[in-house]
Amino acid sequence: MNLAVFCSGYGSNFQALLDAVRSGKLKARIAVMVCDNPKAYAIRRAAKAGVPVCVLSPKLFKSRGDHERLIVGVLKSQGVDWIALAGYMRILTPYFIRAYRGRIVNIHPSYLPAFKGAHAIRDAYAAGVKSTGVTVHHVTEELDSGRPILRQRVPVRPKDTLATLEARIHAVEHRLYPRALALLARRARR
Ligand code: GAR
Repeated sequence: MNLAVFCSGYGSNFQALLDAVRSGKLKARIAVMVCDNPKAYAIRRAAKAGVPVCVLSPKLFKSRGDHERLIVGVLKSQGVDWIALAGYMRILTPYFIRAYRGRIVNIHPSYLPAFKGAHAIRDAYAAGVKSTGVTVHHVTEELDSGRPILRQRVPVRPKDTLATLEARIHAVEHRLYPRALALLARRARR
């Protein structure tokens, strides 16, 4: 598995993948980290780990298509065969999804199909549900709707604040994402 990880911000899930590769739990190579935000902390994590970074602000391009075509070119040049979205806050176009059909995965901080979208933890907390969760799923043209690879429920406790719930969800994410990718890597080797 020759992986590209896509990030937009803090990159804690990217860090969990870096750690899993380093410890041998995830038999993959992280060929490149792709980022759409020049200020993202994830860039520092890549630099520290010695992972090549491709930072391409969409503002520099005339269209989403132009932005994605350049990214696909970079991925091909690096021999990338799987893509892990890790807090990448852009919606990929059908062009991009077709280029890597079946080989793009995403982590989402809810037990899908509940609470799709960019504010899943906040929305679940505001809805007052008793449990939410984390989902690692295949990426398709329809937002947050591809087949799940692994899902885990996370209880919402009566004393939870949004911050404590977020922390518990992130801790689950950091275990679940490496596990899901390790599963896919094992299947790919068969
Ligand atoms: C994570 O909670 C991830 O599940 C979420 O963004 C956060 C990124 O954190 N993604 C989505 O909401 C996608 N719809 P990180 O940058 O620390 O990994």
